[in-house]
Amino acid sequence: MAKKKIILTGDRPTGRLHLGHYVGSLRRRVELQNSGTFDEIFIMIADAQALTDNWDNPEKVRQNIIEVALDYLSAGLDPEKVSIFIQSEIAELCELCFYYMNLVTVQRLQRNPTVKAEMLMRGFSEQAEAGDTTQKQGLPIGFFCYPISQAADITAFRATTVPAGADQEPMVEQTREIVHKFNSLYGETLVEPEILLPDNAACMRLPGTDGKAKMSKSLGNCIYLSDTAAEVKKKVMGMYTDPDHLRIEDPGKVEGNCVFTYLDAFCRPEHFEKYLPEYESLDALKDHYRRGGLGDVKCKKLLINILNELLDPIRERRHYFEERIEEVYAILEKGTKRAHEVAGETLRDVRNAMRINYFEDKELIAAQAKAYAEQKA
Ligand code: TRP
Repeated sequence: MAKKKIILTGDRPTGRLHLGHYVGSLRRRVELQNSGTFDEIFIMIADAQALTDNWDNPEKVRQNIIEVALDYLSAGLDPEKVSIFIQSEIAELCELCFYYMNLVTVQRLQRNPTVKAEMLMRGFSEQAEAGDTTQKQGLPIGFFCYPISQAADITAFRATTVPAGADQEPMVEQTREIVHKFNSLYGETLVEPEILLPDNAACMRLPGTDGKAKMSKSLGNCIYLSDTAAEVKKKVMGMYTDPDHLRIEDPGKVEGNCVFTYLDAFCRPEHFEKYLPEYESLDALKDHYRRGGLGDVKCKKLLINILNELLDPIRERRHYFEERIEEVYAILEKGTKRAHEVAGETLRDVRNAMRINYFEDKELIAAQAKAYAEQKA
């Protein structure tokens, strides 16, 4: 039998989803769902992981589960085709994580880029000497271990494929190491996953509207899937472009120019015919911008049209589901039930492989009974 093709991916419920989430993974998930090439798809709302850096604010996580679920359904995930579920409801994930913790060293976790960055922020560094007295702020173990918990998420569903952004690469790599170690210690049990990255650089790491770093809620540089057409227009009109492109006649830079990065991520050839027929392609538009004589506003208007065309059906579906919140929770409950089944099967396999399934282990019981009987005889 050919190995089943299974997807597991997810998001932390700490806010509404934005265009970075969309081009980084969400759009791909919807395509894969509709392609019919996967045997099963699981989409996880990672509330337990969100708590690893929001433990002081569980209410934020609690309120945002519905926002992420609404964004998923609005973006076109179909509950008939995918199981959308809530991480903390699947207790098996904690148990898997507990066994995997034995297979990972503290030193290995410290090399994980996310963990490392967090430790640096708290005053820890590789150079810090023993006896260093500078104030350091402790790093909670829960946060420290979340790469291991993410390996539990992925392996519990026997995922072969994890569609995600480049920031998740170290997590999937860590998972592969755990799988490898587990299988070589206890026998072939777990499935080694692969990350599926966006196929274009602009989508890999969509910058915020300020042109800085990536789109992120804490930087306030996001365009949300639930933004109105007027909000999108305002955000795009205020977008960072080329600071040296002062007059229309000036030659402009396309690299690092947010409007063009977004066009790279969202524009399709047919958009030109529809919204800007005097150019035949994005390359032609870029050439003109570079030569000079093309204003920012014209490019921004094109982008506004493209984004609103994309977001209109998403907004419409959101309005539909916003009037059916109970139904959305029922969808999550159904998905969670299915996720629970599969994680339970994997956990049984894991316990069998580790031979810690004592009550089902008739051989163990019989052998020990026999040994004691012989001792007495
Ligand atoms: N770490 C992901 C994020 O920050 C969320 C997540 C948790 C996830 N478990 C996962 C993603 C498993 C992919 C696979 O958005």
